[in-house]
Amino acid sequence: MVAAGGREQLVVLANRLPVERVGGASPWRSTTGGLVTLLQPVARETRALWVGYAGTSISSTLDRNGLRLHVVGLPDVDFPGYYEGYANSTIWPLYHDNVSPPAFRADWWEAYVRVNERFAGTATALAGPGARIWVNDYHLQLVPDLLRGRRPDLRIGFFLHIPVPEPEVFRRLPQREQILHGICGADLVGVQCASSARAFLRLARRVLDLDVDDGGILVGGRRVRVAPFPASVEVARIEATANRVDVRARAAKIREALGRPESVILAVERLDHTKGIVQRLQAYQWLLSQGRLRPPRTVMIQVLPPSRQTIRGYRVLRRTVGAYINAINRQFGPGAVRYWDRVFSLDELVPLYLAADVMAVTPLRDGMNLVAKEYVAAHVDGHGALVLSEFAGAAEELHEAYLVNPFDVEALGGALWRAVGADPWERSARMRAMRTTVCGSSVLRWGRDFLAALAAASRTDGVVPALEPAPPASDALASSRPAPR
Ligand code: F6P
Repeated sequence: MVAAGGREQLVVLANRLPVERVGGASPWRSTTGGLVTLLQPVARETRALWVGYAGTSISSTLDRNGLRLHVVGLPDVDFPGYYEGYANSTIWPLYHDNVSPPAFRADWWEAYVRVNERFAGTATALAGPGARIWVNDYHLQLVPDLLRGRRPDLRIGFFLHIPVPEPEVFRRLPQREQILHGICGADLVGVQCASSARAFLRLARRVLDLDVDDGGILVGGRRVRVAPFPASVEVARIEATANRVDVRARAAKIREALGRPESVILAVERLDHTKGIVQRLQAYQWLLSQGRLRPPRTVMIQVLPPSRQTIRGYRVLRRTVGAYINAINRQFGPGAVRYWDRVFSLDELVPLYLAADVMAVTPLRDGMNLVAKEYVAAHVDGHGALVLSEFAGAAEELHEAYLVNPFDVEALGGALWRAVGADPWERSARMRAMRTTVCGSSVLRWGRDFLAALAAASRTDGVVPALEPAPPASDALASSRPAPR
């Protein structure tokens, strides 16, 4: 066992840090993404030490914008196999229901194991006695059990930001047992929504043959609690931004610059196979070709920052999406789709949200999708309409959105059409109901809830609470999909 060397009381582990090293005169550049947006306010509030990778093989520590950061240096030789390979070409597509075919390679797995060991070693060196370690996401699934083996005094929480697949899908993974044992080293396993929590319990039972009840797993005399903690957004900050006069003026200017269309449809996402971008463009094209929507009276804005461009499939997707947009604009006029392929800050996004009559969030599969919640939080006046995929975690909370199956291009077109043409009273009733849900939570509350549950879960140390009787098979195996509305 490694001795408790450090003195940190709360350590957050995630592959991504809010900065990456670029060298030169300003060596650190900010990073973006769902995980960064979510963890930043929580890490700031709790003064946690955030440990992650920053694009360099050299380890260091730094303080930045009220955040305490520790960079884990990773050997250049391991990073591609670990990140581009196992994390993003094996686990990512598999956990998103095989939206693109996962690839399996032994050398990627070996790199993944080495990197997980490095993260675990760093955390054990930094953590003080009895510290809480919060491990995040699919890059670090082996870390909880590695930590438990080295430092049984630690309180270990694991949060998976992406969906939990069903056993039928997960069982294809060559390292399925190792991955589940890795996660089950935690005292608390948090996931985005109730269906993912149920799916995780099914994995434990079917793949590892462990005893489960409806909120936990019995692992070697310990109970691992499994629960949903739906991620949220910075509601107060978004509302305050949306109420600013300059932001409202900017929203009006955006519509003016678009030629004062009757309807603006907006889509904002990272370029990824999971996001259903092509299907949505096809649905829009279908509506245009039927003459149900007509540019320039209707305009679609697509904000699409590229990501993971070192992976070939993502480069191909970028070209495919570009080709679709060009084809639509050739056929229906140059402004039918406005395409911005860069990252937008929250201050830029809020005016866009306000300028959009309809927000289309239609991933093929998504753990949660915070853009949907940001759009709702920004509509302080109750206007706007959200078209939302049934396969996004957010659909388990936002029942009043125009819910749709994004694989069904005509249904998707129909949902966009209904949202564009809906009676203002209906749209506002739906928006107000969604605002009650979104504004009843906040990112800080999400973090506090998880950490409070971790404290409670680890208080049962050494005592094995009796498992409640297993739920009837029909409950335990209930579909993880929200009912179509
Ligand atoms: O959904 C999982 C996630 O980690 C997000 O939180 C994040 O926005 C996204 O993947 C981006 O990942 P990467 O760190 O590879 O850019």
